[in-house]
Amino acid sequence: MVADLIRTKRAVRQFEPRPVPDDVIRQILDSGRRAQSSKNTQPWHFIVVREREALKRLSGCGAYAGHLAGAAFAVVLVSEKNDGSNDFDLGQTAAYLQLAAWEQGVGSCIATLGEADKARAVLGVPAERGLRLALSFGYPAQPPAPPKRGGRRSLEDVVRWEHW
Ligand SMILES: Cc1cc2nc3c(=O)[nH]c(=O)nc-3n(C[C@H](O)[C@H](O)[C@H](O)COP(=O)(O)O)c2cc1C
Repeated sequence: MVADLIRTKRAVRQFEPRPVPDDVIRQILDSGRRAQSSKNTQPWHFIVVREREALKRLSGCGAYAGHLAGAAFAVVLVSEKNDGSNDFDLGQTAAYLQLAAWEQGVGSCIATLGEADKARAVLGVPAERGLRLALSFGYPAQPPAPPKRGGRRSLEDVVRWEHW
């Protein structure tokens, strides 16, 4: 069930060395491309990175991007525009990619590429496209941690009914 996947999905930053088969990668990507977007513009491009050297170089493109180095593969999200206007849409596709992966037992974690220009140089992404986020994917090295008690704000804290 989608609700179970959402409840049990955690950020996974350590991965088994074994590769994720291409057909599984394709299923994950196919779910990502089905995400909703503003005016159905689908303003995303996915760069799939499996080469270890490139993954290592990308892991040096953000303060907390180290987990990319050990991923079985990464998906670098490139947006059509480089003005932040596609950010919500990219968040949607990221969530779909991650949930579809989790359904297959593949863990994932986002990496913010704070040094985007370095990442552009690694991948050859032109300046007019947005580049800020990558996702690590792979089979979790440890059994998934159970949902953390207090790991999310409570419903009562988050929800207001009818008015602020
Ligand atoms: C926009 C965004 C940027 C993130 N950037 C990073 C990052 O640079 N490095 C990292 O390790 N995790 C990153 N994360 C993952 C979050 O730290 C993680 O989703 C959050 O701590 C919840 O983890 P949990 O689901 O295991 O509780 C990012 C998540 C989002 C949504």
